[in-house]
Parts: sequence; structure tokens; C-alpha cells
Amino acid sequence: MADAPGAADAAQDLSYDRIAPQWDAARTGYGRLEREYLDRLCAPLASGATVLDLGCGTGRPFAEDLLGRGWRVVGVDASAAQLAIARARCPNGVWIEARLEDYAFDTACDAAVCWDTLFHVERRHHQAIFSRLARRLPAGGRLMLTCGGSAHPPFTDEMFGRAFFYDSHPPDVTLSLLLRAGFRILRAEFLNLPPGTRDLRDKGRFAILAERAA
Ligand SMILES: C[S@@+](CC[C@H](N)C(=O)[O-])C[C@H]1O[C@@H](n2cnc3c(N)ncnc32)[C@H](O)[C@@H]1O
Repeated sequence: MADAPGAADAAQDLSYDRIAPQWDAARTGYGRLEREYLDRLCAPLASGATVLDLGCGTGRPFAEDLLGRGWRVVGVDASAAQLAIARARCPNGVWIEARLEDYAFDTACDAAVCWDTLFHVERRHHQAIFSRLARRLPAGGRLMLTCGGSAHPPFTDEMFGRAFFYDSHPPDVTLSLLLRAGFRILRAEFLNLPPGTRDLRDKGRFAILAERAA
């Protein structure tokens, strides 16, 4: 499929709505380093803490694990169908249907997960999302995040026969946006290097653990 720059519009939400059962069946557990990142995210949390799961999907693996560890979870996702599965799986979570670029971050939180989601949001929104989140987190509040792993224009790719929009700053720019928003970087690395083995549209994937500076 040709690169197709453009807005991550309602078609994207619809795509995740349409693949919700397949996504849920495929995303059954942790990938490489994911649990390690979650452990470090949670390390400073005090009893009763709330973790925001931005782009929570069907609530697995992150929200389900976080709730199991005793934290409160607020999951935010643009897809009603993904959220319906999350709500059924984890009725003790709070589930909010919203696009990250529109979300007001009006929920108190102590840490945030934004895993494999930001690269579905147009890059022009990323700085504002980081800034709104930073204002919500306490000093020392942590964020675990993935972004794309290379410089590339926006593109679409297929998953389960549907088209999905991808956009990302390269990792060095994402790191600088986080610093500008008031985070400091605790850990950062490639999860898979570009070009990946999947196909030429695999732009790589980069993980970041950051902390709200005092
Ligand atoms: C690849 S899945 C990742 C789900 C989960 N974080 C995980 O690691 O398994 C991407 C999720 O982001 C959601 N999403 C895509 N664009 C979004 C947007 N603009 N705002 C909020 N959620 C979005 C999708 O509905 C989907 O649930």
C-alpha cells in the first residue's frame, strides 16, 4: 500500500472497532521488555495510586495487570469496541472513550502508560499531549511510552485486512518533546530496529520511560 499522508480520522477508530475481537485474541500477553517497563513505572507508586492507560485497547495486558497489582486504572481509547472488551474484562477500571488529541486529561493520575498508540496520532499533536499529561502528573510521576523508531512521513499499513494510520517523530525528536514538556528520561531503547523484518513499512519501534521532573 502506498504511503498515504493525512488525518488519522474516524476511519482509524472504525478500523480498531472492526478488529476488536481479532486484536484481543492476538494481544494476550507481554512482548519483549514490556513487563520490565511496567515494573519500573509502578516502582514509586504509593497505595491507592491511579495509572492512566492511554490507548488502552482491550485492557490487556497493561490495565488488567495494573488492576491485579492493586492500582486504580483509567483507560482512555478512541475505539468503543476495544473499550467494550476492556470494560467486560475489568469492570473495576474506569473506561473513557476519547481521542488522545482531544482528551482534556481531567482525571487525576500518578503514572501513565501510552504503549503502541501515540504512533496512531498525527505528530503535530504529540507535544500538546505530553504537555497536558505532564501538568497532570505529580513530580516523579512516570510515563512509559512507545513511538516510531525512525524518520518517515505518515503512512498507512494493514492489520487484519484493515488500514491503519501511522505517524511519529523519530526517537530523538520525541525525547526532546518530552524534555520540553517537563519530563526527564530514565530509559530509552529500540524495541525493534528499522528496517524491521515484517516488511518495508516497518519503521521500527522505540520505548521510553520518563519521569515528571520536580
Ligand atoms: C496497537 S493498539 C495498543 C493497545 C494497548 N496499548 C497495547 O499495548 O496492547 C492501539 C490502540 O490505540 C487506540 N487508538 C488509536 N488512535 C487513537 C487516538 N487517536 N486516541 C486514542 N486511542 C487511539 C486504538 O483504538 C487501539 O486500541
